Amino acid sequence: MARGWPAVLREGDVVLRPLRRADSRTWLTLRVRNAAWLERWEATSPEPAPGPPPTFGQFVRTLNQQARSGSSLPFAVEYRGELVGQLTVATVVRGSLCSSSIGYWVSEHVAGRGITPTAVALAVDHCFGPVGLHRVEINIRPENAASLRVVEKLGLRDEGVRERFLHIQGAWCDHRTFAVTAEEVPGGLVERLRRAGLLAR
Ligand SMILES: CC(C)(COP(=O)(O)OP(=O)(O)OC[C@H]1O[C@@H](n2cnc3c(N)ncnc32)[C@H](O)[C@@H]1OP(=O)(O)O)[C@@H](O)C(=O)NCCC(=O)NCCS
Repeated sequence: MARGWPAVLREGDVVLRPLRRADSRTWLTLRVRNAAWLERWEATSPEPAPGPPPTFGQFVRTLNQQARSGSSLPFAVEYRGELVGQLTVATVVRGSLCSSSIGYWVSEHVAGRGITPTAVALAVDHCFGPVGLHRVEINIRPENAASLRVVEKLGLRDEGVRERFLHIQGAWCDHRTFAVTAEEVPGGLVERLRRAGLLAR
């Protein structure tokens, strides 16, 4: 079994847990309702699709396979007992790098309550603890003010711009990279957010 997976992480009203097949109806409803909210920021692939889009069951199965192999930690985000988004610790690389990148989204109806900063803090603390990683990064388009605010609240280090870094909505887009290594947060990121009064409300 991969280190640190499966896991359930909690801070106040925010819970990170594995996505389940039983989430199908809620997840699909959320995605339809938030199509315009999410579309602008979501990664695409320049390669032709290998086949029809996966069913939700196939999607969950693929996520679980990736998690078991240790290449990602695909969390569902719950707020006050309701599924409201996803946070994925992706591209886990071990060896001399021991690094990963985090991606996230929440439904527009719960935006602005500090859910994502809290979820990222939980995930990063877990990565530096049971998962055994040393570095976590988050890549954000310069136009994404809400996401830039998330890393600002967390106090992540600005590593600069990666040009044409990721394929988004049909084009290669520049991203700003923000990172943190374990030495920078000896007391953990949840504790840093708590002290700043920025945990989810
Ligand atoms: C980016 C995102 C994950 C932030 O999540 P969140 O849980 O709302 O994070 P926060 O509560 O800390 O809010 C961050 C900022 O979003 C902005 N914001 C708040 N409510 C908003 C709303 N309804 N609409 C747009 N922006 C909003 C505010 O500037 C807020 O900063 P503030 O708390 O200082 O006012 C969320 O906006 C989202 O899912 N966006 C679409 C997908 C996306 O961009 N993913 C990230 C790709 S890198």
